Amino acid sequence: MGEPCGDLAETDGPEKIHEMNSTTRMRALATDGYGALDRMKVVEMPVPEPGDGEVRVRVVASALNPADFKVAKGTVKFLHARNFPMVLGYDFSGTVDELGRGVDGIATGAEVFGFVPYSPTNRRGTFAEAVIARADQLAVKPAAVSHEQAAAAATPGATAIQSLRDLGRLREGMNVVVSGCSGGVGSIGVWIAKKLGGKVIAVGLGRGLELASAMGADRVVDRKKEDVAAVLRGPFDVFFDAAAAYRWSEWRGRLAPGGTFVTTLPSLAFVVDKLSSLVSGTRCAVVMVKSKPADLRLLGEWLTAGLVVPVDRTISLAEVPQHLARLEGGEVLGRVVVSIGDR
Ligand SMILES: NC(=O)c1ccc[n+]([C@@H]2O[C@H](COP(=O)([O-])OP(=O)(O)OC[C@H]3O[C@@H](n4cnc5c(N)ncnc54)[C@H](OP(=O)(O)O)[C@@H]3O)[C@@H](O)[C@H]2O)c1
Repeated sequence: MGEPCGDLAETDGPEKIHEMNSTTRMRALATDGYGALDRMKVVEMPVPEPGDGEVRVRVVASALNPADFKVAKGTVKFLHARNFPMVLGYDFSGTVDELGRGVDGIATGAEVFGFVPYSPTNRRGTFAEAVIARADQLAVKPAAVSHEQAAAAATPGATAIQSLRDLGRLREGMNVVVSGCSGGVGSIGVWIAKKLGGKVIAVGLGRGLELASAMGADRVVDRKKEDVAAVLRGPFDVFFDAAAAYRWSEWRGRLAPGGTFVTTLPSLAFVVDKLSSLVSGTRCAVVMVKSKPADLRLLGEWLTAGLVVPVDRTISLAEVPQHLARLEGGEVLGRVVVSIGDR
């Protein structure tokens, strides 16, 4: 596949690009190296071509994830592609406009959503007017669901499903804690934990607690005003630490036999806890989200049936760096959606 980033020029806005041939050129938010978030610029570049098993999606909406500022700053450079310029962004919803070889079961014009993988080789992000995605890693967007909601749900929704249902083995009637309930993963996680039949306690702050109640939490705990360890006695079947703020070793005594602590970030402390948990009668797990079409389809069904992803605000490509700074500073409630193309 041809590399998308060979020919770049900074641009002030959409006008200049769209005077050109927009079937071959696009706008994208790219960074030319690790560092401050304002190093990211809206540039013009060639529209990428899909390879075998891939499709090209004209992106209508994307959304911000903490991974975007971590990658842009180089915090996780050992895990991610290091070649520049790098187009950031993971989540997308849009319309398929080109099929690579060997793709069947999907046609041009299909409205799809999903997220591109966090990988050592991928630098084709979704903060762009077009992105290449694997045809077997996306799902058709239900017509009743907006591109904004589909993009907002993709990574955090799949993360919450895989954490609660798969790693947590959450079933009807189980006692569940979800931390980080004002965030993307935690807020959707509260809704999904309820949908899977859990009795849910959400841990968070201020407006995040109102959000958690609106998402269906049975009880909320303010992590600043209350002593979380004293208030949450357990036993809990699932402790989903979406905020990656705690350790299994802190909560093991409050997990039910066979109960699971699930975190969202791998760390040395996690490895130590994982080893200890093997002889403890409880489980310690970390989610590494995968783009599974079946999970995306389930999200699509839930979005159709009543899941509403809380949207902090909708922004343009050029505004992404300043809102990534807000996300990093803990100022975002729910998800920031990026409006990119026409539907
Ligand atoms: N491993 C994976 O596959 C995977 C996938 C997706 C995301 N992630 C990671 O999961 C984490 C959450 O993602 P997200 O999209 O939900 O991020 P987010 O929208 O920034 O939400 C994170 C939430 O964590 C809570 N928080 C922040 N600092 C805290 C602290 N010191 N103690 C307790 N809670 C704190 C805040 O909620 P409250 O103020 O309400 O407590 C905040 O809203 C990020 O680290 C992200 O990189 C991992």
